[in-house]
This record gives sequence, C-alpha cells and structure tokens, in this order.
Amino acid sequence: MLTAEEIGHVRSSFDMVFANASDMTTTFYNRVFELAPECRPMFRDDMDVLKRDFIATLAVLVGSLDQMTGLMSSTDILGRNHARYGVKPEHYPVVGEALLWTLASGLGPQWSDEVEQAWRKVYGIIAQRMIAISARAPRP
Ligand code: HEM
Repeated sequence: MLTAEEIGHVRSSFDMVFANASDMTTTFYNRVFELAPECRPMFRDDMDVLKRDFIATLAVLVGSLDQMTGLMSSTDILGRNHARYGVKPEHYPVVGEALLWTLASGLGPQWSDEVEQAWRKVYGIIAQRMIAISARAPRP
C-alpha cells in the first residue's frame, strides 16, 4: 500500500519533529482547537498526558508502516477508543489538516511536496481504518 520511499519520507520527517515533541504536540492541539473549537469539550482540561500519549502512539504507528498487520491492529484499538470519546468521521479531516500544518511548520524548508503527499496517504490510511472500526463500535 505504501512505497518504501513514502515510508522513508514519513519516518525521517517524523524523527525531526520528534526531537521537539513537546512543542510539536502543543502546536498540534492548539491548531486543532483553532480549526475546530467545537471539539474542545471532548478533551479533558489538562492535556499533558494526552500530548505524551499522542506522540508516543504516532511514533508506534510510524514505526509500523512497513508492517501492515501491526499498523492495523494499533489503528483498530485507536478507532474503538475514539468512538467512545464521541469522535465522528467529520472530525478526521480537520485533525489531519492540523497535523500536516504542524509538521510543515516544524520542518520548515525540509517540508516538501513528496513529504506532504506521503503524510496525506499515511493519515488517510489510518483515519479510514479508525472511521470504519468506529462505525462498528458501540456508541457512548
Ligand atoms: C490519526 C489520528 C489520531 C491519532 C493517532 C490519535 C491518537 C490519540 C491517542 C494516542 C489518544 C490517547 C488515548 C488513546 O490511546 O485512546 C487520543 C485521545 C483522544 N483523541 Fe485522538 N487521535 C487521532 C484522531 C483524533 C480525532 C480525529 C479526534 C477528533 C477531535 C480525536 C480526539 C481525541 C479525544 C477526544 C481523545 C480523548 C481525550 C481525553 O481523554 O482527554 N483524535 N488520541
């Protein structure tokens, strides 16, 4: 599904932002709430633990890109959890845009069309699978 080149682009760019994980996650959630303030009530007030969980999970997903079975099982767990948080399919594109925007601003000149396309593809695979699993999960 993903080429070795796409996986390489995503991994090397992720490694660069991971070095500043705390700034990256702060920028990311600020951007999510700027683009979609209606999502804020789904999140707890204190976001510190979530920020660490988010970047750690993203690291696991990025590490599994060449191993679809592992990637899909992590994604399935996330999809079921997100159904419980009340996340709806329409929230995924906006969070994807916030993630891409955060990566672009963190990477500066290292952000390129190829890197962007690779991240779009990866986010699309993960989001589609989370949405599909959520549709089968019990609603809160
Ligand atoms: C690739 C997409 C996403 C990834 C990798 C991701 C990752 C995570 C992780 C690791 C957590 C911590 C708890 C857990 O593991 O279940 C979490 C919680 C959460 N996520 Fe996501 N997420 C994604 C998409 C979204 C979207 C589209 C929304 C919609 C606004 C969202 C809203 C939430 C909420 C509300 C929580 C719980 C917050 C809390 O307990 O305070 N996530 N997410």
